[in-house]
Amino acid sequence: MDRIVYVNGDYVPETEAKVSVFDRGFLMADAVYEVTSVIDGKLIDFAGHAVRLERSMKELDMPEAISMDDLLAVHRELIARNDLVEGMIYLQVTRGAPSDRDFVFPDPEETKPTVVLFTQAKSLVETPAAEKGLKIISIDDIRWGRRDIKTVQLLYPSMGKMMAKAAGADDAWMVEDGFVTEGTSNNAYIVKDGKIITRHLGNEILHGITRAAVLRFAREAQMVVEERSFTMEEAKEADEAFVTSASTFVMPVVSVDGVSLGDGLPGPVAKRLREIYIEESRKVAV
Ligand code: PDD
Repeated sequence: MDRIVYVNGDYVPETEAKVSVFDRGFLMADAVYEVTSVIDGKLIDFAGHAVRLERSMKELDMPEAISMDDLLAVHRELIARNDLVEGMIYLQVTRGAPSDRDFVFPDPEETKPTVVLFTQAKSLVETPAAEKGLKIISIDDIRWGRRDIKTVQLLYPSMGKMMAKAAGADDAWMVEDGFVTEGTSNNAYIVKDGKIITRHLGNEILHGITRAAVLRFAREAQMVVEERSFTMEEAKEADEAFVTSASTFVMPVVSVDGVSLGDGLPGPVAKRLREIYIEESRKVAV
């Protein structure tokens, strides 16, 4: 693959793209990111991702790196230059590369943020996982306390995916103080007696852009939504379950900690919400 990627104002072949070894994203995980999906060569929920990026940066006292208009232009340029029809655009903003390693934040007048974007081609709409559903295990949530900020501190979520793989499952849900927070890279939901239950917003979870859209569509379709914490015991007794994220949309979950949900196949609520999400998102993609 020879992608054209974006680094600090330049479009360059991926093999020529460079970031300093002193970059704080590399040394300190001092960086935030966004993943925006692309269908039919268009961006899904760009505005939502752009607003969340701004918020993440503000929460970490990062100086503005790129205007929202320019950001949209870069996303579109990357789609065009890489002929991207379906997949994702990954965006990362770091606090930049000062002249040496130091815990103290560099002076924003001297050190400008690093901005990197690249495309990832991937089939998102038609995927075997959506037909089969995911098997989920539960693991302890030992991440830091500001999961509402989308930082690149992804070591524990990566380890969680490996724990799931080792257990013969597809992904993990994280549990804190007895309640499910979220999936390693997605928001978590159960469905019981027609009610959609998902954790309320707070610092404990990422405020998913897909979550916001899916809950809006669910309510518009007269489905009942309850935003509250739930336990793994409740999940094991649910009629069905699913996860949401920019890269998976709505993805059915068919088992939790080895317990099959319903008839062990993707449930009707998850399937319907996936259809609605894809249909509605396509209509307003930019
Ligand atoms: N992950 N929770 C966590 C911990 C996540 O990492 C993500 C997204 C979500 C869902 O957020 P959204 O609907 O805005 O994508 C929830 C992205 C896709 C990733 O890391 O690849």
